[in-house]
Amino acid sequence: MKIKVLFVCLGNICRSPMAEGVFANAVRQRGLEKMIDCDSAGTAGYHIGSDPDKRTLQVLKENGLTTKHKGRKLENGDLLTFDYLIVMDQNNYKHVEEMIQKKPGKASLFLFREFDSTCEDKKPVPEVPDPYYGTMNDFKLVFEQCERSSEGLLEFIINKHSL
Ligand code: 4NP
Repeated sequence: MKIKVLFVCLGNICRSPMAEGVFANAVRQRGLEKMIDCDSAGTAGYHIGSDPDKRTLQVLKENGLTTKHKGRKLENGDLLTFDYLIVMDQNNYKHVEEMIQKKPGKASLFLFREFDSTCEDKKPVPEVPDPYYGTMNDFKLVFEQCERSSEGLLEFIINKHSL
């Protein structure tokens, strides 16, 4: 059985598709595609079926990455299917925590930046801030946070599952 990781933000067009693209690349670079799958979803349904935000696609492209993801809303079934739910901010965390309390599944819940090496020992754990109303620089910052957090998350999964 593959280890399944779901990245979650609010709209599923800016941060979580970026996280998915960056993490999938880190998994490929380690040759672990047969062991680990990832996807992304939003706690809100504003952008179901939409492509990621142009700025997310641009930052991914500037870094040689791409994604074919279409926006989707987080469902109760995801709590049963996924091993890891990786959220971007505290609002996402509360939303998913409430879903888990109502319908427990197998998924473990983490803030993505718990795995960012520049955030060690910081409490509360820093967020990946919502860039939707921001600038390209905010999207570039999100990319850098996703890169560091992906490395840390992948190390965690490799150790946890003895890959
Ligand atoms: P995301 O950003 O949660 O990183 O995808 C947002 C995208 C859209 C909206 C809010 C945040 N929105 O309000 O439509």
